[in-house]
Amino acid sequence: MVERIAVLGAGTMGQGIAQIAATSGLDTCLHDLSEDALERARTQIEQMVQKGIDKGKLPDDTLAELQQKLRYDVDPTTAVADCDCVVEAIFEDLDLKAKVLGAVAENVSEECLLASNTSSLSITGIAARVPAPGRVVGMHFFNPVPIMALVEVVRGVDSADAHVQRTVELAKRLGKEPIVVRDTPGFATSRLGLVIGLEAMRMLESGVASAVEIDKAMELGYRHPMGPLKLTDLVGLDVRLAIAEHLHKEIGEQFRPPAILRNMVRAGRLGRKSGRGFYDW
Ligand code: CAA
Repeated sequence: MVERIAVLGAGTMGQGIAQIAATSGLDTCLHDLSEDALERARTQIEQMVQKGIDKGKLPDDTLAELQQKLRYDVDPTTAVADCDCVVEAIFEDLDLKAKVLGAVAENVSEECLLASNTSSLSITGIAARVPAPGRVVGMHFFNPVPIMALVEVVRGVDSADAHVQRTVELAKRLGKEPIVVRDTPGFATSRLGLVIGLEAMRMLESGVASAVEIDKAMELGYRHPMGPLKLTDLVGLDVRLAIAEHLHKEIGEQFRPPAILRNMVRAGRLGRKSGRGFYDW
């Protein structure tokens, strides 16, 4: 049973994971190397919880419970002390993830589950550089984490059955519906989701229709809750570019990043988080 959890990285995904862990009753620590990032995270998490309360989705005492269960720590050693599970939600870079989880492994017990929220990178590749790799699994959440029901549990070549099972149980405890997938590039979700996103960008590039019309096509014609370009703004263009580059290398031509995506990232148009992407936010 997981009772103490640390979440590494206070970006959008880390905030969401820390929020649901704390409101599910786990002793939770959110870690980032910058005090500013942690302070921003605190404000955004508390706003999200308040929104849930205002909408009648969360009980009135959720904010108080969150504040009691969630702490923030810039020190990477004390953040993970005595944890049963550490989830990393840092930038989509295999070397960085392996380095960070490798360092965590020095400061936790061999029983501590080491989970990566990667959207597409190899869990096997990360685990290979971490001592006792059987405890490394993928735990892929979706944005916005408190609302999206799915967790994709990724079984690496060396992931031990017992740790995969613990991850499934943890996902359920967090109120999520887990699926277990084999470690292949992009798993089940990013591989399919990105095909639509990249094709929508190519359609915009070649003038098939405007961003609003392409999104409306999928929202009204296919009942997607959000069109693929708006969704790219929500996920972050930089995040989608990193996934596309990886899948292009691993799977093939259908994932080649369109020029429009590269150019927008170069221009700092990263989507909702930067105030501008395919839309102005
Ligand atoms: N806490 C709990 N529940 C909340 C909440 C909160 N703070 N805020 C809103 N909710 C609830 C609402 O009450 C509502 O519930 P009901 O449907 O039961 O009424 C539901 O969540 C939706 O909320 P809203 O009405 O505020 O918002 P919306 O209807 O405009 O939907 C959305 C917003 C959920 C983002 C929706 O547009 C959507 O599902 N978009 C697609 C998101 C998606 O595909 N995400 C995956 C991205 S890919 C990814 O993340 C993986 C990766 O690796 C990059």
